[in-house]
Amino acid sequence: MYRIALLPCDGVGPEVVAEGLKVLEVAAAKYGVEYETVEYDVGGDRYLRTGEVLPDSVLDELRQMDAIYLGAVGHPDVAPGILEKGILLRLRFELDQYINLRPVKLYPGVATPLAGKGPEDIDFIVVRENTEGLYAGIGGSLRRGTPHEVAMQEAVYTRMGTERCIRYAFELARTRDEKKVTMVDKSNVLTFGHDLWVRTFAEVGEEYPDIETDHAYVDACCMWMVKNPEWFDVIVTCNMFGDIITDLGAMVQGGMGVAASGNINPNGVSMFEPIHGSAPKYTGQNVICPVAGIAAAGMTMEYLGEVECGKAIEDAVIAALASGKLGDLSTRSGVSTTETGDLVASLVE
Ligand code: IPM
Ligand code: MN
Repeated sequence: MYRIALLPCDGVGPEVVAEGLKVLEVAAAKYGVEYETVEYDVGGDRYLRTGEVLPDSVLDELRQMDAIYLGAVGHPDVAPGILEKGILLRLRFELDQYINLRPVKLYPGVATPLAGKGPEDIDFIVVRENTEGLYAGIGGSLRRGTPHEVAMQEAVYTRMGTERCIRYAFELARTRDEKKVTMVDKSNVLTFGHDLWVRTFAEVGEEYPDIETDHAYVDACCMWMVKNPEWFDVIVTCNMFGDIITDLGAMVQGGMGVAASGNINPNGVSMFEPIHGSAPKYTGQNVICPVAGIAAAGMTMEYLGEVECGKAIEDAVIAALASGKLGDLSTRSGVSTTETGDLVASLVE
């Protein structure tokens, strides 16, 4: 019996989580996966009501869960940073979810803005370091609000954090057909931090002679992701660059409506979420595409070891997308959030 924590949080988060659960229920019943869910009221509304962001008592309970399923974080009436840092980043850090896994896969029937590219060209996965780099939150400011203001925001890279991320990427590449890892960095400018990445990548790579290695500077990576996405299999990169290139990746794979992700602690509690944000202006309108959220539910099962159940959810997503019944996956597609969830659920085989 798995215990899955639900953190629907803000904006359209609750709507997409509801559809993910709808599909999960069908798939789990079919494959005999037993689970219970515990929902937590965190997010902008609770913060505005009580001033609490993520109470320690909630965090302690989350540590005992088998997985966390999150909707989206961000509220129009709360200053940027409070919920992002206080909920999402705090969970990633405190639960040591050191990998942010982001598949960039174009499914048949989904339109990509890349002319002449199809599903056979766009199938890679980004391994984003998830606990260090510019996200470490180290820094400060001096003389704030004056013309002499000084602001420092440090990027933190440790050998341990870099190595475990790179090692994860190589292990992942071994499970894939292409068996190639491309490291994406800015080592031509970040000559301390990313020099550590370069040396670590070379050293760890020697332990994996069966895996092809490649390298791209992050700016060039953006170019290749558009021009030659078929070059990529596994990309490993730092936290900030991983954040940026996966929004580009989401567009390449057909939009924010389809891109799912996992915050992974291979030895602890992992958390799954759509890459898209809370999209406040669409809250409660039943128009947002829940496919990314549903796919995140599938990833949850896969990482709990319920591979068949997870695969069934992914296959149902693939079938729904291929059916042509979901329109352009935008908020104007004419297909509602709940109708999409119903269709995917009906296609679980
Ligand atoms: C993401 C998001 C977060 C990030 C924000 C909401 C803090 O953009 O998961 O990619 O920057 O990691
Ligand atoms: Mn992001």
